[in-house]
Amino acid sequence: MPGSNDHIDDNARRYGTQAISAAAERLRSGGLVAVPTETVYGLAADSTNASAIADIYRTKGRPDFNPLIVHVPSTEAAGELGLLNGLANKLAKDFWPGPLTLVVPKTPDCPVAPAVTAGLDTIALRCPAHPLMQKLLNISGLFLAAPSANKSGGISPTKPQHVEHSLGKAAPMILNGGPCESGIESTIVAIRGDDYQILRPGPVTSDQLQASTGKTAVNHQGEKIEAPGQLASHYAPNKSVRLDATQAGPDDYHIGFGDIAGDTNLSVNGDLAEAAANLFAALHVADASDRPLIAVAPVPSTGIGAAINDRLNRAAQKG
Ligand code: TXA
Ligand code: MG
Repeated sequence: MPGSNDHIDDNARRYGTQAISAAAERLRSGGLVAVPTETVYGLAADSTNASAIADIYRTKGRPDFNPLIVHVPSTEAAGELGLLNGLANKLAKDFWPGPLTLVVPKTPDCPVAPAVTAGLDTIALRCPAHPLMQKLLNISGLFLAAPSANKSGGISPTKPQHVEHSLGKAAPMILNGGPCESGIESTIVAIRGDDYQILRPGPVTSDQLQASTGKTAVNHQGEKIEAPGQLASHYAPNKSVRLDATQAGPDDYHIGFGDIAGDTNLSVNGDLAEAAANLFAALHVADASDRPLIAVAPVPSTGIGAAINDRLNRAAQKG
C-alpha cells in the first residue's frame, strides 16, 4: 500500500478484520502503522526489524537514546522478551491488559532490535487493553514497538486527527479506534529486584501499585535519567502554558476544571479520570486557538491527578 496518507478511518469497520489484516501486513513488511491504545495513539513497528525501528525514530524526530515500549499480547509473550520475577508477574496479573509498563531485564536471546532499548540491558513491556490493538497483536503475531504517535516533545495524540496533525505528511496508515479511554500515557514501573520504582506516573496510581504489591515504591536516584522521555520539557504545546490559573487573562485560552469553567473544561464534575481523558485534546485545541497564551486551572494531585500534573508541569517547561 504505497503513499503516506492512506488512512483507515471508516468507523463502521474499525474493528473489521480487513483493516486489521491490512495493518498487520504493512507491519510485517517493515512499515509503520499508527495504532489506538487505551492510553494514547502509538506509532507501531515490528520490534525485531531494525530498519522499521529506525523509521520510528526518524518519523518522530526522536533522540535515539530514548528507548521504546514493546507491546505484547500476553504475559506469556512478555516472558520471551523480558525476565519477569515474582513482583513483575504480580503486577502483570493485576494490571494487564492495561495502562502499565514494566521495565525488566532483557532475556538473553531477546529478539528485539538493539535500537528499541537504546543499548540498555532492560526492556519496557506493556500488554495493552484496547480491543483493536489486542487483535492486531494477535493477528500479526508481532511484538510491536510503539512510542506515542506525535513529533518528539509534542502533545501526545488521543484521537486519530491528532496523529495526522502532529506527524503531517509523515503520518502512516492510522487504525481508527476512536478517542483513547484513559488519555494519558501508561504508568512506567521499573522492577528493582523485590522493589519497584515509578519512572512515569500514569493511569495506574501509586495507591493501586501499593495495594497490589503490599509495598511502597522506592525512590532510587540513578546517576543518569533512566526514562529519558522524562526530560523536563515534553508534551509541550507551541504556546506558553501557565498553571494554577483560577482566572484567565485577555490573551489566555483557559482550560478549566470543575467550577472554574474556562473556554473548555477538563471535567465539569471535577472527575479526575475524565480530566485525564480530555487533557491532551484540550491542549491540542488550546494550541490551535487564536489566543496566544494557554492558562490551566488547578487540578488536584490525588490519584490519577498526579499523572495529570506531571504532564502539565512538563507542558509548562520551556524547551
Ligand atoms: O501509554 C503508553 O505508554 C504509550 C502507548 C503508545 O503505549 N507509549 C508511550 O511511549 O508513551 P513513549 O515512547 O512516548 O514513552 C516511553 C517511555 C519513555 O519515557 C522511555 O524513556 C521509557 O518509556 N522507556 C522505554 N524503555 C525503557 C527502559 N528500558 N528503561 C527505562 N525507561 C524506558
Ligand atoms: Mg511520548
